[in-house]
Amino acid sequence: MADAVHNGTNGRDPNALVVEDLRVSVGDRQIVKGLNLTVRPGEVHAIMGPNGSGKSTLANTLMGNPAYTVDSGHAWLKGQDVLALETDERARLGIFLAFQYPTEIPGVSVENFLRLAYNSSKGTDLTPVEFRMMLWDKLEDLQMDRSFARRYVNENFSGGEKKRNEIMQMAVLEPSIAILDETDSGLDIDALRIVADGVNRLLEQNGDKMGVLIITHYQRLLNYIKPQFVHVLARGRIIKDGGPELALELEEKGYGPMLAALGVELPVEETANQSV
Ligand SMILES: Nc1ncnc2c1ncn2[C@@H]1O[C@H](COP(=O)(O)OP(=O)(O)OP(=O)(O)O)[C@@H](O)[C@H]1O
Ligand SMILES: [Mg+2]
Repeated sequence: MADAVHNGTNGRDPNALVVEDLRVSVGDRQIVKGLNLTVRPGEVHAIMGPNGSGKSTLANTLMGNPAYTVDSGHAWLKGQDVLALETDERARLGIFLAFQYPTEIPGVSVENFLRLAYNSSKGTDLTPVEFRMMLWDKLEDLQMDRSFARRYVNENFSGGEKKRNEIMQMAVLEPSIAILDETDSGLDIDALRIVADGVNRLLEQNGDKMGVLIITHYQRLLNYIKPQFVHVLARGRIIKDGGPELALELEEKGYGPMLAALGVELPVEETANQSV
C-alpha cells in the first residue's frame, strides 16, 4: 500500500494529471491555497479566474519554474511525482506549457530549438533535414510561413506570432498534458481560429493520449476549443466547477455575482483589475 502511495497510482488514473491539495508560495506569500484538479487524456479543461488569482502560478509550478515554492501537495502523472522532477524531466514525461509571456532566445532558431527539444523528449535522433520535413508539415497546418522556422525563437515576433509559435511547439512535441496559458491573448480573430484548429486537430489525432488545460479570460476561445470542464479559480482555490455554461455565465455577468453567492471576497490585488 505504501508503495502504491509513493509511486503515485493509489487508485488514481495513471494517465491523468492529478493535482492534490497543492499549495504554492512566491516569496513569503501563498498564492495557490489547496488546489485539486484531475485532467484525463481526451479531456479539455478550462480554468478562468480574476487577474492575480493564481492561474499562471499553477501553470508555472506544474512546469517547475523555480520562482514558485511548493509548500505542500502533489501532482501525479503516469505514476510519477511530477513536483519532484526537474523541468526537462517533466517535459519528457509529456507536460507542455505554452507560456502567457513567451521569452526570446536570441541566436537560436525555431528549427534548432525544436529539434533539440523533440529529440530529447522522444529519445530520437532526427537529423536537421528529417526534422525540417516534419516541421514544414506542422507549419502548413498552422498556416505559418516556412521562413518562420529559421527565425530566432520569439525575437521580434509579434504577439500573435509568439502564441502561434507556442502552438506549433505543442503540435511538434505531442504532449500528454498541454497547458495553454492565455494563448488566445494578442491573437486576431483569424489567428485565434488557426490556433484553435491546431489544438483541435491534435486532439483529434492524439486525443486518447492528450489532456488539455486552457487558462483563459475569454469565452470566445471556448467557442472554438470546447471544454468539457470549466473551473473558476479565485484566491488560489477552485471555487466552482462546472461545464461550458460556467464560462457563458461569467461572460454575461462577470465574477461579482458568483463570488458574492459563494461568499468569496477578493483581496486588493485580485480586485484591482478584474477581467472576465
Ligand atoms: N514570479 C513572481 N514573482 C512575484 N510575484 C508573483 C510571481 N508570479 C506570480 N506572482 C504574484 O502571484 C499572484 C498570482 O499571480 P498569477 O500570475 O498566478 O495570476 P493569474 O491568475 O495568472 O493572473 P492573470 O489573469 O493576470 O494572468 C499575483 O499577485 C502576482 O503578483
Ligand atoms: Mg496569468
